[in-house]
Amino acid sequence: MNLKELLNRPLEIGGKTIESRLLLAPMAGITHVAFRRLVNEYGGAGLLYSEMSASRAIPTENPKVSKVFCWTEDEKPKLLWQIYGSGPEEMAAAAARCEREGFFGVDLNFGCSVGTIVRKGGGAALLRDPEKAAAVVAAVRRAVKIPLFVKFRTGWEDEPENAAGLARIFEENGADALTFHPRTAPDIRTRPPRWEYIGRVKDAVKIPVFGNGNVFGPEDCAKMMAETGCDGVALGRIAAVRPWVFADWCGLPPPRTGLHLAALKRFAGLCSEHFKPRPAVNRFKVLTGYMAADFAFGHSLAVAVKTARDMDDAVWAAESFFSDDPPPSAAPNPNMLR
Ligand SMILES: Cc1cc2nc3c(=O)[nH]c(=O)nc-3n(C[C@H](O)[C@H](O)[C@H](O)COP(=O)(O)O)c2cc1C
Repeated sequence: MNLKELLNRPLEIGGKTIESRLLLAPMAGITHVAFRRLVNEYGGAGLLYSEMSASRAIPTENPKVSKVFCWTEDEKPKLLWQIYGSGPEEMAAAAARCEREGFFGVDLNFGCSVGTIVRKGGGAALLRDPEKAAAVVAAVRRAVKIPLFVKFRTGWEDEPENAAGLARIFEENGADALTFHPRTAPDIRTRPPRWEYIGRVKDAVKIPVFGNGNVFGPEDCAKMMAETGCDGVALGRIAAVRPWVFADWCGLPPPRTGLHLAALKRFAGLCSEHFKPRPAVNRFKVLTGYMAADFAFGHSLAVAVKTARDMDDAVWAAESFFSDDPPPSAAPNPNMLR
């Protein structure tokens, strides 16, 4: 089976079906409503993760003013909302709101190792406390019927058995699917992820497992699926570099030339539609920083856009960079993907 056929196999998750096995992974500052719209317009993603959101805030959050808790109707059938927090009841209440809003599903962030979140017992802190993690999953399961995902890392030590044990706990307490990033919590993408651990997690459970980490090209994706037996793959940074990557690997109409500039211009419009001028241009700058990784002289693009005063200036800087029609590199520059 070629990659396109592998990815286009429907998959049942918690009583619902997804049409492609490539997921947009959650990325704070990137997978907001404007970016998800861009990805969804190209097509190919089976599910679109939100940015992580604080469970404490969600029950009372107003989508008309929130910068994170907002979405469009079109994406709801594919929208997987990620929440973080430590209290089972708080997480359950946030998940219930996600269900009421009609999202595809909800995901529990058990992987974030940022100090402010871990100190409050959220994100990867829960991997140190399997009983509490189990209580969170069970409480959310009682609160909602929509598909329940857990996204997690190996744990605090480089121990695959630990990850497999956690996966079993999540499944026993009602998770419908897992997204697994095989790095330890303290490892901020410095060492390569241990893909072989994805196979250990997959063997430990019956529910679908999505592998994640350093998949940058179609060969990586095919390799991860073949070597680990995972049911699908969640793409993070490569989606920020090439938002059409899902469409491309799933064999949707072939990408045209000049894609980077066209994507950036569309993204500028979407950001301006959804956010006020300052946050809109800030989001544009973040994405341009990733897209710049696709070009040999991408630093000049990133710097020119970063120093722009406003959106018009930022788009103008991008247009100037692309006026020479620079050829994209075969693979993005890893030093620009931190
Ligand atoms: C800028 C950035 C923000 C991220 N934010 C989140 C997040 O909100 N929730 C989460 O579970 N993971 C988050 N991650 C981790 C990604 O989902 C993913 O696990 C990681 O980037 C590895 O996948 P990749 O190699 O395909 O990028 C973030 C990663 C990046 C680069």
